[in-house]
Amino acid sequence: MSVPTELIQRLGNVKKVTVLTGAGVSAESGVPTFRDAQTGLWAKYSPEELATPRAFRRNPRLVWEWYEWRRKLVADAQPNAAHFALAEMENIFAQFQLITQNVDGLHQRAGSRNVIELHGNIARTKCFEEGRVVSTWKETGDVPPKCPACGGPLRPDVVWFEEAVPEEKIALANEFSTSCDVFFSIGTSAMVYPAASLPLEALESGATLVEINPQSTPLSKKANFVLSGAAGLIVPELVNCLGD
Ligand code: OAD
Repeated sequence: MSVPTELIQRLGNVKKVTVLTGAGVSAESGVPTFRDAQTGLWAKYSPEELATPRAFRRNPRLVWEWYEWRRKLVADAQPNAAHFALAEMENIFAQFQLITQNVDGLHQRAGSRNVIELHGNIARTKCFEEGRVVSTWKETGDVPPKCPACGGPLRPDVVWFEEAVPEEKIALANEFSTSCDVFFSIGTSAMVYPAASLPLEALESGATLVEINPQSTPLSKKANFVLSGAAGLIVPELVNCLGD
């Protein structure tokens, strides 16, 4: 797919660009998405059993071990061409804000410096009882391990279903979405709120909305440009065109 000339021209004339990414951006790194019918995590596992505070209370070992498996998968994965191209975009525009729903840290590993991680980071651990971020603990054989400060169980520092995105993060994301000239929604099914409201807010505030996704989403009909295909092909092509 080639990038429309009209979009390249528009991007040549703007200063403020905001990008929202989702699991599709990491799919080509081998990190499974959530909602893809055959390969998505939620096709195999139930979010209610693995990604809620209630699930953790019911079976903390199961939840910890599932996240350990994902943590390892992500640690072994490498950023792909889409991550690298997005890192390059940070140098092209006067103001460039990356907002991600991904917890895999691959944007940062590709060189993005300024990332709002709406759903946390799987490599970080916090105390389930008190929310304190913990970087070291004693390996006593307990699964999950215990918080060195209060003895409560440790959990991944990610946002689960039934939990809220930290207020300061969503406020910042709102600000960058309502004040940008062009908003990209890349590799997200645009179904999980509050992240899914960001492209709509951008559109309402007058931004040009661009979607990059091989499938259509609830956003596709509203977007000004829909680039249908894999992020690992389209985002580098877009960045190349910007350099011409
Ligand atoms: P989803 O799994 O809901 O959607 C992934 C999207 O990526 C789909 O629209 C795919 O069509 C698209 N996709 C697949 N391969 C792609 C590729 N190579 N290039 C571009 N797009 C591709 O993932 P998210 O929208 O990120 O939350 O899901 C949002 C949240 O729901 C996640 O952050 C997670 C999940 O439950 C929490 O864990 C809190």
